[in-house]
Amino acid sequence: MAYSLKLTANTPEGAFLMYILIIGKNGQLAYELANSIPAGITARFVSSQELDISNQAAVHTLITAEQPDAVINAAAYTAVDKAETEQEQAFNINAKGPQYLAEACQSIGAHLVQVSTDFVFDGTANTPYTPDSTPNPVSVYGSSKLAGERGVQQALPSATIIRTSWVYSSHGNNFVKTMLRLMNEKEQLGVVADQIGAPTWAAGLARVCWQAAQQKPAGIYHWSDAGVASWYDFAVAIQSLARCKGLLNKQIPVNAIETADYPTPAKRPSYSVLSSSSLQQALNIKSVHWREQLNAMLNEALV
Ligand SMILES: NC(=O)c1ccc[n+]([C@@H]2O[C@H](COP(=O)([O-])OP(=O)(O)OC[C@H]3O[C@@H](n4cnc5c(N)ncnc54)[C@H](OP(=O)(O)O)[C@@H]3O)[C@@H](O)[C@H]2O)c1
Repeated sequence: MAYSLKLTANTPEGAFLMYILIIGKNGQLAYELANSIPAGITARFVSSQELDISNQAAVHTLITAEQPDAVINAAAYTAVDKAETEQEQAFNINAKGPQYLAEACQSIGAHLVQVSTDFVFDGTANTPYTPDSTPNPVSVYGSSKLAGERGVQQALPSATIIRTSWVYSSHGNNFVKTMLRLMNEKEQLGVVADQIGAPTWAAGLARVCWQAAQQKPAGIYHWSDAGVASWYDFAVAIQSLARCKGLLNKQIPVNAIETADYPTPAKRPSYSVLSSSSLQQALNIKSVHWREQLNAMLNEALV
């Protein structure tokens, strides 16, 4: 198949062997999954050209032919603002796609790891959202991802659903790379200070997805890097760390602005901090502070 990529990590003697299919090959999470394949796992990465997850027959054909032990769905419609006018496409990819994957996994006895979002919440809380908190999305994107969670749970109750937030990587489009570009181009920047959440380095999320595919905890979980930030806090940290590493050649004023000063087509939750503690317990892992993860990502940008 023209676009497939099959990779096997070094296998120490006696390691558990699994074949895992990763849906989505060119996104941020998929890129970090490809960089961190655990020992004993053979992974195949499937691009959107090879499989459109909103095509039910194609999903069933591929999963049935491949017979994976587990599937990690790293594919999604992630254009949050565009989704407001492309509702049908967002729901086809974020709601129907995961449901078709779950049905196909169910039919062959494979595990599924589905990735979801903090945008399933309305942001009216002031303490971290737990997996039991009541979702109430305020955007088409959030509604489509929540419908995806429900489709997966109905078709395959044993699936692992991981909600995450503010994902970035050295690959793809994200806030960190946009800030670095704008900080080089502009004389000053205004960044929203009244939306609070937690940045998540896709490399850390990838390791969690690999573990979930192997350990198979059932149900909804949350994962983000530790700590809390506004987009403004995050931007200030990006500038300061990038300046120290010589990634920016000038210092510009970064001004705190309000959401009302930066209107976007999609509404965002003003507070979307996720409590990762149940997944930390289930997988016996600890989340790392977002500043440390940002530092590690920026070190990668230097090589
Ligand atoms: N980015 C964030 O800030 C954020 C926050 C919270 C949750 N999440 C969730 O985290 C997961 C990973 O996000 P990400 O940032 O890695 O996304 P991303 O970089 O936007 O990548 C999404 C991938 O999905 C693929 N895709 C789109 N439509 C498809 C279709 N119909 N069939 C198959 N593949 C399709 C795209 O393929 P092409 O490149 O070929 O179009 C792309 O490679 C998603 O579930 C997302 O909802 C992300």
